[in-house]
Amino acid sequence: MQTLKGKHIVLGISGGIAAYKSAYLLRLFIKAGAEVQVVITPNGKEFITPATLAALSGKPVVSEFFAANTGEWHSHVDLGLWSDLMVVAPATASTIGKMANGIADNMLITTYLSAKSPVMVAPAMDLDMWAHPSTQRNVAALERDGVDIIQPASGELASHLTGKGRMAEPEEILRRVELHFSRRESLKGKRILVTAGPTYEDIDPVRFIGNYSSGKMGFAIAEEAAARGADVTLVTGPVALNTDHPSIRRIDVRSAREMLKASEAAFADSDAAVLSAAVADYAPEVKHEKKLKRENTDGLTLKLVKNPDIAATLGASKGDRILVGFALETDHEHENALDKMRRKGLDMIVLNSLRNPLAGFNKDTNQVTVMLKDGAETEYAAKSKRDVARDILDQLENLF
Ligand code: C5P
Repeated sequence: MQTLKGKHIVLGISGGIAAYKSAYLLRLFIKAGAEVQVVITPNGKEFITPATLAALSGKPVVSEFFAANTGEWHSHVDLGLWSDLMVVAPATASTIGKMANGIADNMLITTYLSAKSPVMVAPAMDLDMWAHPSTQRNVAALERDGVDIIQPASGELASHLTGKGRMAEPEEILRRVELHFSRRESLKGKRILVTAGPTYEDIDPVRFIGNYSSGKMGFAIAEEAAARGADVTLVTGPVALNTDHPSIRRIDVRSAREMLKASEAAFADSDAAVLSAAVADYAPEVKHEKKLKRENTDGLTLKLVKNPDIAATLGASKGDRILVGFALETDHEHENALDKMRRKGLDMIVLNSLRNPLAGFNKDTNQVTVMLKDGAETEYAAKSKRDVARDILDQLENLF
């Protein structure tokens, strides 16, 4: 089936051994009906010839800023506008580093910087290079910039060492690209409320009670929902994250009470809510107008009052809207999560495993089990929060 019919794909190839697989990937794209423009780095040409790629794509390969014979300038801006999707495969450590830092010294990077389309990157390198903090920092930066990373696989590498770093197989990359195009509209017309981050409960003008929630999980959910065509209202506590998707309306709040107010208003005309915020359970009964002083006191007792439960409040009047909550449990995980789902009127609960070191606050990865009202349960492997967001939204789509 021509799953990519009429799609414009820019295939970026950088200089790694895995470039030999790019010819096959290109062939798969073409067979699926895509139009493909290859952009190759100078090093990439050492691994695979532009003649092969031009023959397979039916288009001259772009590599230099200026055409060798005519001196004509190749416009990366035009390419960036033409593209429905840019796929960089293989992406070497160097290319990933340049993309992450805007070092635009070849056509692949200038095309990336001017691309208006989504971008996917399939890294390929030796295991030590992949594991190096520098590479991981750059990959994390790309993810923050909205680039979709197709994780490398483990196995034997060109160096004959065995470990993580092999480029994902062309079939897997094709599958991800097909998924990307097929699901873009899957939540079109749906309005989704997402809560994210911690809440801060003020003690006095300079102090508060808070928690370590980074907001990463909630932001990933908001972005994935928007990528699938939903209109998203993201109500977030204080976080150090940005989002610029045009379909995400962001509302910044501080306390649980503010979050409740904004969430109730948004829920009124939503089809579903995903409540991933780590809402403080208690707030100081009074917020002191002046900074509390240490002098003349032996100690300090703060009287705390219970915060409203946003999930339970929305759950009580949800009608046929879908409500998704999170649970983070230290003991009797399953029983507690099920109980929470019932008490708060949730349709689905996402259980964060605390036993897994890859799960939890302020990490880029998470490991979850999704439980549904009807008793169905799915345990997922540890993966990036972006991929976890996909799993959660796949489940939500099934409930619609
Ligand atoms: O009761 P617990 O805090 O474990 O419940 C977690 C779930 O409930 C999360 O989805 C969280 O966003 C939501 N919650 C809430 N308001 C609160 C406390 C938790 O919406 N005050």
